[in-house]
Amino acid sequence: MTSSPSTAREVHIVRRPAGPLSTADFAIAEAALPDLAPGEFLIANRLLSIDPVRRMFFANGTAPLNAGLHSFSIGEVVESRHSDYAPGELVGHYKGLRDFAVGRGEETRKIVAGEYPLEWHMGPLGVGGFFAYVGLIEIARARPGESVLVSSAAGSVGSLAVQLARLIGCRTVATVGSADKQAWLADVAGVETVIDYKQADWRERLAAALPDGLDVYFDNVGGAQLDAALSLINPQGRVAVCGMVSAYDSATPFSERAGAWTWRMMTSQVGLRSYHVRDYQRLWPAFQRSVGGWLRRGAIRTETQVRDGLDATPQAFVDLIAGRSLGKTVVRL
Ligand SMILES: NC(=O)c1ccc[n+]([C@@H]2O[C@H](COP(=O)([O-])OP(=O)(O)OC[C@H]3O[C@@H](n4cnc5c(N)ncnc54)[C@H](OP(=O)(O)O)[C@@H]3O)[C@@H](O)[C@H]2O)c1
Repeated sequence: MTSSPSTAREVHIVRRPAGPLSTADFAIAEAALPDLAPGEFLIANRLLSIDPVRRMFFANGTAPLNAGLHSFSIGEVVESRHSDYAPGELVGHYKGLRDFAVGRGEETRKIVAGEYPLEWHMGPLGVGGFFAYVGLIEIARARPGESVLVSSAAGSVGSLAVQLARLIGCRTVATVGSADKQAWLADVAGVETVIDYKQADWRERLAAALPDGLDVYFDNVGGAQLDAALSLINPQGRVAVCGMVSAYDSATPFSERAGAWTWRMMTSQVGLRSYHVRDYQRLWPAFQRSVGGWLRRGAIRTETQVRDGLDATPQAFVDLIAGRSLGKTVVRL
């Protein structure tokens, strides 16, 4: 068991990123750890989740400058004055990007790693995986035989969404930004058609891959790919809006073509829905059971990029946003 320290090391942003995210936007700082009050417990973080949406929070003011940053983490309780949390227990919480954190039990979930690697509770069995499951099954209601397009399909969320579509019996089309991701999706994840959206003719390739149109679009990126998907969507089609990663690292984040999309949606009864998994907690046990079973049997494949040490956090963010990471990115402490 880890011994209790008097200070924590935490990741800060020291300026608002204006262009592409840079390691110079970050610093590592020390912060005092107060003595535990009744109802508190000390967590030694083991895994920090590196999520692309933080890039937007760094720029738009949601994340404070020169202060501790929030992110999902999994850690071990090392000292406790809370009757429900005992030393040695693993907890998931949102006080990450630091090595030690004080918890009070709110927004905290106990984690039983069980038969799975702990990293999987950050990826396919974690919050991102749950967004994939809820978005594809509950929001888009993908059905066997339908065509499903998933963007950023080699990422943590996308790689699960596209494999769930395959398991449902859908025709799967995926977009990614590099040849290695293309190969992984085709050769390991069993996706039928994979398109590199950085190739000049990606729109033509997408249209050719969907000769009968698109029934479901699982949108991780927004922007030009949402535009292209909506140009192909069939009447009664569904779009699950999970995220907009193309906007996160951009100076001009949002497309100007909303008018054209709205017209198409209106005339074709297309449903486009954003969602948050907090409204679907009732599905969590079924999600854990189903996805856990598929992972165990090898029916779903998953990748984790592990970076070691808190000091690796800034580069992990830069690499994730730049598209250099396959699967889920975590920092291990
Ligand atoms: N993880 C979560 O807990 C969670 C929860 C709710 C919502 N979401 C949302 O779900 C989406 C996917 O999240 P994730 O955690 O799995 O991250 P992710 O898809 O791995 O995100 C990083 C990837 O985004 C792609 N990307 C970067 N810039 C792009 C651009 N301009 N256009 C298209 N793709 C670009 C890159 O892949 P390529 O090499 O393929 O370009 C990069 O590797 C995000 O929009 C996120 O906000 C995630």
